[in-house]
Amino acid sequence: MAAETVSLNPEIPGERKDEAEEDEVEQLTLIGSYGEKVRLVEDPMEEIMLVWGIQQPTFSKQNAFVAQSSLTLNLDACGHSLSILQSPSSLGTPGVTGSVMWDSGIVLGKFLEHAVDTKMLTLQGKKAVELGSGCGLVGCIAALLGAQCILTDLPDRLRLLRKNVESNLDHVNLRGSATVFELVWGDDPDPTLVEPFPDYVIGSDVIYSEEAVTDLITTLVDLCGAATTVFLAGELRNDAVLECFLEAVMKEFVVGRVEQTQWHPDYHSPRVALYVLTKK
Ligand SMILES: C[S@@+](CC[C@H](N)C(=O)[O-])C[C@H]1O[C@@H](n2cnc3c(N)ncnc32)[C@H](O)[C@@H]1O
Repeated sequence: MAAETVSLNPEIPGERKDEAEEDEVEQLTLIGSYGEKVRLVEDPMEEIMLVWGIQQPTFSKQNAFVAQSSLTLNLDACGHSLSILQSPSSLGTPGVTGSVMWDSGIVLGKFLEHAVDTKMLTLQGKKAVELGSGCGLVGCIAALLGAQCILTDLPDRLRLLRKNVESNLDHVNLRGSATVFELVWGDDPDPTLVEPFPDYVIGSDVIYSEEAVTDLITTLVDLCGAATTVFLAGELRNDAVLECFLEAVMKEFVVGRVEQTQWHPDYHSPRVALYVLTKK
């Protein structure tokens, strides 16, 4: 889907901007099906300097919205009280990260709710695939907002995910649907996931290791058609990992950063960045 770019500082006829001023012109653009303009990411290193410089993630509290030592995380979303089961003891197992919730999941879930409420996004009747669902909060919110959501994760991570989907959604009058499916990044996706291509691919805290970046991007490329919009919320822990991701993903996707002013007003975090992407 084409990206429409506008300048925040349009040049006044008759006036000439020098090169330094030109460099400072901020680019805002519409990307995919998201209805608000976002800041176009043009250079990975500049983006890293901007988010780390402006948000100063290391100076603020980690896990502001989650208590990873609790067995449940309670959150109101879409008029429902969600109770997400966590398995804090599994977090010590090497390679296991999705057994508890992370702030970026709360930010992304509440952002989706806010964007639908403010009519910047439509999920009703749309196909959405969530990557690395972990405990499943984001996918559950997408289904409550009307999406036909497929929540995915590694094969040995699906038990807790299924439990959370069932315990939170089985008894409610769901506007959409939620199914749990195995998906290992880098593997060929099952036809269920790509026929037809999803309208949305969503993921929170899935950019956290340089080793996983290539497989993650392979999966993004495989899952996205020309009309797919991707929302990824990332925790700002490691600038090298984010830069490595942006460098690689920008070869295939247009990337924009959603400013915090567009997030749910009660769920801002300087430790999180939210990106929207579409295939070039
Ligand atoms: C840090 S957790 C984030 C979980 C959840 N999205 C959240 O925000 O709370 C990363 C998730 O990605 C999943 N994951 C990691 N590597 C993966 C891979 N190669 N294929 C599929 N899923 C993977 C993990 O199992 C885990 O659920």
